[in-house]
Amino acid sequence: MSTTLFDRIGQLVTCAPELGDGSPLGLVGEAALVVEEGRVAWVGAAAGAPAADERVAVGGRCVLPGFVDSHAHLVFAGDRSEEFAARMAGRRYTAGGIARTVAATRAADTETLASVTARLVDEMARQGTTTVEIKSGYGLSVEHEARCLAVARRHTDETTFLGAHVVPPEHAGDPDGYVALVAGPMLEACAPLARWVDVFVEQGAFDADQARAVLRAGAAHGLGARVHANQLGPGPGVRVACEVGAASADHCTHLDDGDAAALADAGVVATLLPAAEFSTRSPYPDARRLLDAGVVVALATDCNPGSSYTTSMPFAIALAVREMGLSPAEAVWAATAGGARALRRDDVGTLRPGAAADLVVLDAPSHVHLAYRPGVPLAAAVWRGGRRIH
Ligand code: NIG
Ligand code: FE
Repeated sequence: MSTTLFDRIGQLVTCAPELGDGSPLGLVGEAALVVEEGRVAWVGAAAGAPAADERVAVGGRCVLPGFVDSHAHLVFAGDRSEEFAARMAGRRYTAGGIARTVAATRAADTETLASVTARLVDEMARQGTTTVEIKSGYGLSVEHEARCLAVARRHTDETTFLGAHVVPPEHAGDPDGYVALVAGPMLEACAPLARWVDVFVEQGAFDADQARAVLRAGAAHGLGARVHANQLGPGPGVRVACEVGAASADHCTHLDDGDAAALADAGVVATLLPAAEFSTRSPYPDARRLLDAGVVVALATDCNPGSSYTTSMPFAIALAVREMGLSPAEAVWAATAGGARALRRDDVGTLRPGAAADLVVLDAPSHVHLAYRPGVPLAAAVWRGGRRIH
């Protein structure tokens, strides 16, 4: 059994308060960390580090858990750069553009789809992401949703069935018929390939009753719930997420009085996706209101070709700090431990002994640099399960 010592870490972010300075980031200065069999085996002051077979000298830089990107749509074909350009010229974002990506995705052969997904997962890894959730949602037929999930499964166990993304054109006249298809045969085909089920609850997508039907059918197949909630306007998404005990309500941009308290009471994580607001030139969610209400906040990219075509968790962190009033420490926690909570995982997003050895060496002395140096590729080296992936 070989062991590796990460030595001379200037600042170690453990996200385990008891191991460090007592803050949520659990910071340890002048630290070391030992990896054995793909897991963290020991964490502490460099001076007291045990011997190991191999040594990685970190040279005073910062080490933190790999980012947990808990919301991404990575299986699609084509892009929608003209829509982005039109938005930057003043056009509004609507859910309607999704249909264009559905048409391109259906027309693409499987290896083309797979190469898009692989490229995006690789882009993520190079920026420090070691866990990613991947949704379907651009197939919208039994055959195409299952195909998209099979592609997603090549990269992660955190796959999400999003047949209820929008009503596809061939069912335009019969949305309830489409919901029955999603909750019936489509779910039947997709459940073996998914861990989660998600619904886009929004004007132009699905209403509360349709969402309940899909999420409950998913639960009957053993799938945990997640919800695209309150992205483009106020609505029932957050409350439905709380009612069904979803792991996460995602977006949470337009909240009514009471939504934040409902999330806190139900223990539903609010996953904020500020790159979507950036890319659609929309107001950012009120993160402070959520934190003040006691809600657990996660950050993710929402990577997709329509509303947020970025794979960068550091970009999401920088936006959360600059535009949503999170402190750098709160944003880094939300992008690591917060993402893990949104996926109900306790083996990632932290560097306590026993956790997966998923870690990033930053070319910087502290985690603050992630927001302080926006747009700079700071992930100098990335390990996943104790294996170097970048
Ligand atoms: O999370 N909100 C719904 N789905 C995506 C956007 C999809 C698209 O525009 O293609 C989102 O923002
Ligand atoms: Fe999304």
